Amino acid sequence: MAFDIARARAAYPALGEGFRHFDAAAGSLVAEPVAVAVDAVYRGAVANRSDAFAPGRRAIGIVADARRAVADLLGADPAGVVFGNSATSLVYLVARTLAQSWGPGDEVVVSRLDHDSNVRPWVQVAEEQGATVVWAEFDPATGELPTDQYRDLINEATRLVAVTAGSNAIGTRPDVAAIAALAHAAGALVFVDGVHATPHQPTDVVALGADFYVTSAYKWSGPHLAACVADPALWAGMFPAKLRPSSDAVPERFEFGTPSFASLAGVTAAVDHLASLDPAATGTRRERLLASLAAVRDYEADLFARLVDGLAAIDGVSLCAAPADRCPTVSFRIGGQHPAETSRLLGDAGICAFAGDYYAWEYFHTMGLRESGGAVRAGIYHYTTAEDVDVLLDAVRALAKQAAGA
Ligand SMILES: Cc1ncc(COP(=O)(O)O)c(C=O)c1O
Repeated sequence: MAFDIARARAAYPALGEGFRHFDAAAGSLVAEPVAVAVDAVYRGAVANRSDAFAPGRRAIGIVADARRAVADLLGADPAGVVFGNSATSLVYLVARTLAQSWGPGDEVVVSRLDHDSNVRPWVQVAEEQGATVVWAEFDPATGELPTDQYRDLINEATRLVAVTAGSNAIGTRPDVAAIAALAHAAGALVFVDGVHATPHQPTDVVALGADFYVTSAYKWSGPHLAACVADPALWAGMFPAKLRPSSDAVPERFEFGTPSFASLAGVTAAVDHLASLDPAATGTRRERLLASLAAVRDYEADLFARLVDGLAAIDGVSLCAAPADRCPTVSFRIGGQHPAETSRLLGDAGICAFAGDYYAWEYFHTMGLRESGGAVRAGIYHYTTAEDVDVLLDAVRALAKQAAGA
């Protein structure tokens, strides 16, 4: 069934402001049911968790609901869902905790395709522990992260492989399952950054072979909150620094202080919203999520082809290479124009597209583009229309013409 874009867009009142949003990779708009759920918590009797009285029980229920929702989204165990303020803070938490047992002779594999939040924490804890950092390289000509190199990079000294499920710079979806199989054969753990990939496709953390998978709700129509999922048995063997009276149970052991119940309610609403994107989908929430995100993936792929083909056809526009298997995210430059200038000029026309390295520091540094401003990023989301794409292409065409004449 064709994706009902009018229905999808109706859930985002902010679209009424008329901007053309190509910035969801940095943070999507929030769906209306999310705002309603957050508002309801702040307006209702919900203070802190207690099983002694009803408002306290509501808070307990909000947390449990959010764990179930994220578990459904990712195919994970609700008892292994850890919430945190951001993906970055969760990577630091896992890295610091795992690295307690690392030392000289141990190795960690990171990739130059990854967002810095799945690179620097591993590099820093490895350095602190005297462990060795091993780099997986992407192919600059294709934007791929070749799986084969991992055969040489992984050995019995490897403790962990950190890899992205989708590049936030160029969209590449590495073959995470194959990389994870190599890591597991060597007894290493796999930490997958799913922040960019999650809103664009169905996710099954078991099929991916992800021991840890991190995602941020603000990239999929939800609030600013992140979750890291893993097998509860894996969490159980990890011991972060924590307060004495706080719970030692998993997953609470990894959550510090009082959580934002309003945001957690928003997370559940965002997952329910994603599950509703294919109105014909039936069954459990997990089944509806799989159907809806498959519909989103197909819808976005068509629009993305229109965007990339259109950009590639404009004289003076250069695209960062990426393989066919990618999230709908492209980085480009217009001639010699500084990307920040392109972003500003597009912004003047009501088009939202980020410029810079978007924290994909290693990627842009390796490409030799970081120091001169990175690139401009345009991403498709499930509220993007063909008209949005055409408006962006027209604007880029005009800027490219101007830049060529300048
Ligand atoms: C691929 C990727 N990983 C990690 C992050 C960091 O997420 P957070 O802002 O939740 O720390 C981002 C944010 O843009 C991202 O795109």
